[in-house]
Amino acid sequence: QPARAVDVVEEESGAPGEEQRRWEEARLGAASLKFGARDATPQEPEYQLVLEEEETIEFVRATQLQGDEEPSAPPVPNQAQQKESIQAVRRSLPVFPFREELLAAIANHQVLIIEGETGSGKTTQIPQYLFEEGYTKKSMKIACTQPRRVAAMSVAARVAREMGVKLGNEVGYSIRFEDCTSERTVLRYMTDGMLLREFLSEPDLASYRVVMVDEAHERTLHTDILFGLIKDVARFRPELKVLVASATLDTARFSTFFDDAPVFRIPGRRFPVDIFYTKAPEADYLEACVVSVLQIHVTQPPGDILVFLTGQEEIEAACEMLQDRCRRLGSKIRELLVLPIYANLPSDMQARIFQPTPPGARKVVVATNIAETSLTIEGIIYVLDPGFCKQKSYNPRTGMESLTVTPCSKASANQRAGRAGRVAAGKCFRLYTAWAYQHELEETTVPEIQRTSLGNVVLLLKSLGIHDLMHFDFLDPPPYETLLLALEQLYALGALNHLGELTTSGRKMAELPVDPMLSKMILASEKYSCSEEILTVAAMLSVNNSIFYRPKDKVVHADNARVNFFLPGGDHLVLLNVYTQWAESGYSSQWCYENFVQFRSMRRARDVREQLEGLLERVEVGLSSCQGDYIRVRKAITAGYFYHTARLTRSGYRTVKQQQTVFIHPNSSLFEEQPRWLLYHELVLTTKEFMRQVLEIESSWLLEVAPHYYKAKELEDPHAKKMPKKTGKTREELG
Ligand code: CDP
Ligand code: MG
Repeated sequence: QPARAVDVVEEESGAPGEEQRRWEEARLGAASLKFGARDATPQEPEYQLVLEEEETIEFVRATQLQGDEEPSAPPVPNQAQQKESIQAVRRSLPVFPFREELLAAIANHQVLIIEGETGSGKTTQIPQYLFEEGYTKKSMKIACTQPRRVAAMSVAARVAREMGVKLGNEVGYSIRFEDCTSERTVLRYMTDGMLLREFLSEPDLASYRVVMVDEAHERTLHTDILFGLIKDVARFRPELKVLVASATLDTARFSTFFDDAPVFRIPGRRFPVDIFYTKAPEADYLEACVVSVLQIHVTQPPGDILVFLTGQEEIEAACEMLQDRCRRLGSKIRELLVLPIYANLPSDMQARIFQPTPPGARKVVVATNIAETSLTIEGIIYVLDPGFCKQKSYNPRTGMESLTVTPCSKASANQRAGRAGRVAAGKCFRLYTAWAYQHELEETTVPEIQRTSLGNVVLLLKSLGIHDLMHFDFLDPPPYETLLLALEQLYALGALNHLGELTTSGRKMAELPVDPMLSKMILASEKYSCSEEILTVAAMLSVNNSIFYRPKDKVVHADNARVNFFLPGGDHLVLLNVYTQWAESGYSSQWCYENFVQFRSMRRARDVREQLEGLLERVEVGLSSCQGDYIRVRKAITAGYFYHTARLTRSGYRTVKQQQTVFIHPNSSLFEEQPRWLLYHELVLTTKEFMRQVLEIESSWLLEVAPHYYKAKELEDPHAKKMPKKTGKTREELG
């Protein structure tokens, strides 16, 4: 039996005409998706193997990403590099030869834009250079912002190791609900959102000597807002140094924004990367990923693989599938280490992706687009790119925010491909056709500020005394309607008065590091005397749908365990129930194991809960318990989420105000109940607009908690025989 298929067609890409022909071919290829060329012989006899049931995917090479280095350069052996002293590794980074020049430029300019290929040492080295140069004298701090929590944590850990200090002493990180810093911490890696919150306590950032806005090209909402605020602070604090660091994208824009600040380029060091496309579109990219990884593993020379997927669930699924197949293939294939990386992964697991691959084995890292520019993993030679990412989008007309899996941009695709060329000439396999790349991908990703709701940020800016939002110095302004809607929502939540000024309640809401609706819910728990329960609900909602787990071999047990937590009323009460029982078990991990609950998520919820509890006094909410009267808890939730309501109509659920069609998520405890009125925590658009975390409510509550927002008439229920009584009852319940 001949070994299976090497369908990777290696051909030189020729003249432009040739390329054109390939695209055409790729498009025509759609009609003839080719599976498993069973008669092909492998190019690498060393990897002989029979992947009997596996199908293969056919790729064509179309283009090459130019490198700065000769393709013949040998790969840097991973292990050898690890053996070298950490200082030698530092000296080997592309930024190192420019250390003095860079420090001089920083000394001479207040604002400097720094551009450099991922992995050149911007994030880990530049703050250290500044530290060595004495910028942190007199306990002045250096902030380095990261759009992602994982990046902030992992980079801080790395720098602490390089400096030979304990994480949390001189070097630390600060992310929402997790502060690993101390009085001594002068190098502070933090999420961009955390630096934004620093403005609340220190509007001029007086304790900071340098602010480095890193990964600026990501253009997250918080980074964009930081730009405006920092530019303003820099004007009246001439001694403050501002660094804007970015991968090789968009730097001219940043320079213009910061009054033509100079751009410092760290020359790249990248080997060429051959880009392959599939001949035909792949219907199931997850399956295609798994097949392709194995295909690369058995046909390609040594080198680790990096796969880009869109989120935790997908990554876990892919890892499971891969491990499963490797197990089945057993000793027929070489060892393949499958390692996931995503935001909620515990740090010990995260650290594993940086460990060198044992000789003879191959590592495959399955990542979200965190690995696009924020993290550099040594030894990657192959990149597998399905071409998708999870993106938030927002419709200001309906006020609906959704998270959807969308095709990534060309800029993103090229960043991903570039990851393959860091240590040697690499290969990038795109699970889409060259035609799709050319015609279906946007050039760049739209900045987050233009596709998200702005409630949070507007509340923060208002608390900083910035009233005229229309004229705030935005790098790219948000859509006018989005800004307007944010103001309207904050008004409805009682955070702003009719003049658009911050109210006392709004000031309290800004104190809490959560979304305005969640803050409002916490504040409302005072009135309904159920802050204990509401804190738990808030903490559980913050840990993000990862409470239950469902191992493939115990699906029935897991589902039963989940159903056992159901309480009438809905998912928020289920979350409350899970937490309460866990607390009663003495926060036991064994209990979690027996009940198919994720211990990690629970531990995190407990942390979040403790922190929120610590803030209650600041917002003048006392601790109180509903004593089993869950109506009070549900009303407090409604007081925060009256914006997110839906009612059952003859044609299914419609949102109350906008009349959008929505569906209860199949995982919800109310999926079969189908209550008439409900509120939802969030909408997630996958195959449909799904409401996640739903709670049954009564329409009369809406008039009770938001009389300025709802009119009795729009809550009339054509199906109900009687209208719920509004008067009397409401007053009674209010006490
Ligand atoms: O910021 P930039 O992409 O320019 O580079 P960096 O993150 O400072 O990475 C410089 C070097 O540190 C790379 O070779 C990384 O592999 C290494 N690094 C690491 O080993 N572990 C981390 N957690 C972060 C970086
Ligand atoms: Mg970096």
